[in-house]
Amino acid sequence: MQITLLINLVYIVSAVMFIYGLKLLTSPVTARTGNFISAVGMFLAVVVTLVNGGIIDYKWIALGIIVGGLIGGLFARIVQMTQMPEMVALFNGFGGIASLLVGTATYHSLESYNLFIMTTLFLAVLIGGVTFSGSIIAWGKLSEVISGNPALFRGQTILNGSIFVVALMGGAFFIANPSDGYLTLIGIITLSLILGVLAVIPIGGADMPVVISLLNSYSGIAACAAGLAIENNILIVSGALVGASGIILTKVMCKAMNRSLYNVLFGGFGAVTRKTAVDFQGEVKPISPEDTYYILEAACSVVFVPGYGMAVAKAQHAVRELSDLLEENGAEVRYAIHPVAGRMPGHMNVLLAEADVPYDKLIEMKEINRSIAGIDVCLVVGANDIVNPAAREDTHSSIYGMPIIEVDRSKTVIVLKRSMATGFAGIDNRLFYKQNTRMLFGDAKSSIEAVISQFKTV
Ligand code: TAP
Repeated sequence: MQITLLINLVYIVSAVMFIYGLKLLTSPVTARTGNFISAVGMFLAVVVTLVNGGIIDYKWIALGIIVGGLIGGLFARIVQMTQMPEMVALFNGFGGIASLLVGTATYHSLESYNLFIMTTLFLAVLIGGVTFSGSIIAWGKLSEVISGNPALFRGQTILNGSIFVVALMGGAFFIANPSDGYLTLIGIITLSLILGVLAVIPIGGADMPVVISLLNSYSGIAACAAGLAIENNILIVSGALVGASGIILTKVMCKAMNRSLYNVLFGGFGAVTRKTAVDFQGEVKPISPEDTYYILEAACSVVFVPGYGMAVAKAQHAVRELSDLLEENGAEVRYAIHPVAGRMPGHMNVLLAEADVPYDKLIEMKEINRSIAGIDVCLVVGANDIVNPAAREDTHSSIYGMPIIEVDRSKTVIVLKRSMATGFAGIDNRLFYKQNTRMLFGDAKSSIEAVISQFKTV
């Protein structure tokens, strides 16, 4: 009795550490500490679960910890920052398969059955299976092992819906006939794996970050169901935390793109399309690195607005070098960060952190927009959709209503990109035709290096 009390007390401490860790993860300054605190919480939870005594031999658990720890440590070292979404996709998949296996093993070892345990077992297996195969497809699309294009066919939604209904019916049969359920369980596992694949293939590669966040939530719900099935309090709590935070992140990303979750999941949007520019009022005014230098040299305030192109060009170090030169020249330099700039949450923060840009220079969209009219120069580095005024001005635009960084309201805008091609949303950008906009065409890194060399030579 006392040992159970002690174990539950430690579980409560672990849960508090998870929640506090999550809180700290909300800022880049405290994120590392948050990660560490959550990891210690998990370590405590694992240790007391072992003390509690398990169904499996300790040797197997120790072996699992050693092998898992080695693989995790190795991957953490070799995986590039830009490959993080793929890595997270795999993590989610492993979480899903773990819940599926826990559910199956628990069923195997049950001596008596009841409605609650059978229902939670079924949910752990179904959601775990969908999470596993869906995450593997998401990983394949992101790492370009398979095509990132949406795979759409007629009757897809009906097929997926039908498989889901058959899986639910199988679940009802499984719950109603627990002693004779092996074949049904295998059927449910098979259907869940097929469903995961079919649910993710219609979604374009560029929408994978949203899908991964959703699958993250699923992996948490599956873990929560598994926790209920094996009556493990900390698994219930941690699963619920992952489930809830995953769904919140999914919602935040959809909101920042002004798209519904339905549109992401069933819209077949997200294959990068390129169109030629339509005629807007005004003309495109190219600028040379030399003239860019003269404008920047005279500027008192400069805001960099990084986007996906900065990641493609790997221009973050050059951006940092230029920003140092501007500061030496007396300008105030800041970075405006849009919540969905790039292709994954925090994409720009990660790249700029890699180039040692101080956190306090990263300014959130809402805050920078408040003072943007007073900024001398906004340097848009490989960003497109997140600065497109159509989001504010064109009620017919597919991005109408999406919050943007309103660079067009600053005194001068210099856009660094290679051509007039569209961004992720596949729509033309009227910013490029505005009176106060200049286009510095070329690869972002080469263009910035050319401006830097002007600073050094002139
Ligand atoms: P985009 O609108 O995709 O524009 C990126 C621009 O970078 C392109 O127009 C491209 O033009 C330019 N570019 C590419 N390579 C370049 C290079 N080497 N040098 C210079 N420029 C280069 O990017 P954004 O403004 O960051 O907006 C992000 C988009 O992704 C949004 O529509 C968002 O909804 C979507 N999205 C984001 C996420 C997350 S979580 N961040 C998830 C899913 C979808 P050129 O080809 O002419 O150079």
